[in-house]
Amino acid sequence: MEIEIFENKKELARYFGDMLVDMARSKERVYIALSGGSTPKVIFDILAEEYRQKIDWKSLVFFWGDERCVAPDDAESNYGMTKRHLFSKLPIENSNIFRVKGEMEAELAAADYSAIIDGEVPKENGTARFDLMILGMGDDGHTASIFPHQIDLWQSDSLCEVATHPESGQKRITLTGKVINNSARVVFLVTGSSKAEKVDEIINSKGSFKKYPAALVAPDNLLWMLDKEAASSL
Ligand code: 6PG
Repeated sequence: MEIEIFENKKELARYFGDMLVDMARSKERVYIALSGGSTPKVIFDILAEEYRQKIDWKSLVFFWGDERCVAPDDAESNYGMTKRHLFSKLPIENSNIFRVKGEMEAELAAADYSAIIDGEVPKENGTARFDLMILGMGDDGHTASIFPHQIDLWQSDSLCEVATHPESGQKRITLTGKVINNSARVVFLVTGSSKAEKVDEIINSKGSFKKYPAALVAPDNLLWMLDKEAASSL
């Protein structure tokens, strides 16, 4: 496990952008699963502004670690957020973007996305292996859309499962531990003081940290990218 702590989101975004520059040079097709929520917005804005010419964007193939069960143009859509903050500003072909069809009935959307991943992403150990998996972490220690009250979804034998947000009841499609931990590299992008306590519990294996889905993330290569607020309890 590596930890990188940044003064602010701009520095964090630049470190992440430089990582993408190297990855895009390293392979003809780089399979990336993105996180949603609010943290990526600022990072995507900085990538679009400062890395347009630096990254060979046509080498990158985009998926999501989770998606809300809403239409792609819904304000809640992770695909829609990524399109507004990143794709709409860069030369990225639609053929390199594989979104979850959140507008479908949830179980059908999960099966559809599992089939897409199985058909598109190269395998290792018989399972899809993303070159890079970006994850966020909620204040409750959830990651992707696996929440503490449904932590058993992590062990599913499927690539995707239907999850439910504990407060809103909103249905989500989420990748499971089977594919998350099969990634070549997972990068947690976590910012803000509200995450600091859980970040410390998980990184330092404190108390009942194993009840947090984010604590189950254990790929071959794991990097926590934190701003100083999120790292303030370490
Ligand atoms: C989502 C995300 C989710 C997110 C965390 C952190 O669909 O909401 O994928 O896992 O990464 O909830 O969200 P924030 O970045 O908004 O704090």
